[in-house]
Amino acid sequence: MSRILSGIQPSGNLHIGNYFAMMQPMIEYQKNHELFCFIVNYHALTSTENSRELRENTLAAALDFLALGLDPQKCFFWVQSDIPEVTELTWILSCQTSLGLLERSHSYKDKIARGVTPNAGLFAYPVLMAADILLYQSEIIPVGRDQKQHIEITRDIAQRFNSVYGETFVLPEARISDELAVIPGIDGQKMSKSYGNTIDIFEDEASLKKKVMRIVTDSTPVAEPKNPDSCSVFQLYALFAEKEKTANLRERYLSGGVGYGEVKKELFALIWEYFAPYREKRKMLASDPGEIRNILKQGADKTRSVAVKTLDEVRRKVGLMY
Ligand code: ADP
Ligand code: TRP
Repeated sequence: MSRILSGIQPSGNLHIGNYFAMMQPMIEYQKNHELFCFIVNYHALTSTENSRELRENTLAAALDFLALGLDPQKCFFWVQSDIPEVTELTWILSCQTSLGLLERSHSYKDKIARGVTPNAGLFAYPVLMAADILLYQSEIIPVGRDQKQHIEITRDIAQRFNSVYGETFVLPEARISDELAVIPGIDGQKMSKSYGNTIDIFEDEASLKKKVMRIVTDSTPVAEPKNPDSCSVFQLYALFAEKEKTANLRERYLSGGVGYGEVKKELFALIWEYFAPYREKRKMLASDPGEIRNILKQGADKTRSVAVKTLDEVRRKVGLMY
C-alpha cells in the first residue's frame, strides 16, 4: 500500500480548483492507500500577517475536508504547526539545499513578478515543503501542475541528503492528472486564491450565480460555432457534468446556436446541486468547532509518531546526537 501525502494552504476559501485537483483525489485515496492529509499553516505565514484570518481559515479548511468526506479514522489528518518537528527538519534540509535551486523556483519568481516583496520564508518555502514530504517518507504526492517543480526540488534535496549521509529518505513522485492540471478561474487564468478569480466550494447561492455569470468568454455571437476547448465555461462544465452531457454540450458548441449565458445557467445549477449534500454536512459540523479541534489534535498525536521516527534518524545521521 503506497503512502500518499498532500497539503493545502489555509490562505482563503477553498475553491473548485483545489477540490478537483487535490481534495477529491485525496478523499478517494483514503479508501485503499495510506493517506496523509494536512493543512499547511506554516506555509500560509509566508503570505499573511492577519492572525485572525489564519486561525479562521485553518478551521474552515478542516471543516471543508471533513464535510467533503475525509475520514480521520481512515487517514492521518492534521494541521502542519501541530507537529513543529517539521521546522527542525526544514533547518537541517536547508543546509543541504543550494541557493541556486531555490532561485530557480517558478512560484517564487512568479510572486516577485506580481510585485510581492519576498521574505526569507517565501524563498525557503520549497524546503519546508520538502520537509513536509520527507518527514513522513511519502511516496506519492497528488497536486496540480503548479506544484510539480516543488516535488522535483524535494527529490533533489532528498537525493543530496541520501548521498551525503546514506539512504534515509524515500524519493517522492508527483501525481498530476492531465485533465485536472490547470483548472481555470472566472477570468480564464489558473484559478487561485491569490488571483481573486475563484469559485469557492461552499459559496452561497447568490454569489455563486454572480461569479458563474461573470466567467470571461469570447464574443462569438450565439448563432456561430464556438470552440469548447478554449472556453472556461465549457472546461468547468466538464468537471461537474456526466460524460454524455459534456459530449452533448461539445456538439452544441461546435454546431452553433448556443449562447454562453445559457450554458452559464446550466453550469450554475450543476455546481449548486453537486455540492448540496456536502453543504448540509458542513453546516452540521460547523456547529461544534470544539469537536473539529479535537479531531485535529488527535490527528496530530497519531501523525507525530511517524515524524519523530524519521527526525531521530536524521538527527543521528547528521551528528546532532552526541
Ligand atoms: P491556491 O493557488 O488557490 O492558493 P494552493 O496553492 O493552496 O491553491 O493549492 C492547493 C492544491 O490545489 C495544490 O495541489 C494545487 O496544485 C491545486 N490547485 C490549486 N489551484 C488549482 C487550479 N486552478 N488547477 C489545478 N490545481 C489547482
Ligand atoms: N505548496 C503547496 C501548495 O501551495 C502546499 C503544500 C505544502 C504541499 N506542503 C506540501 C503539497 C506537501 C503537497 C505536499 O499547494
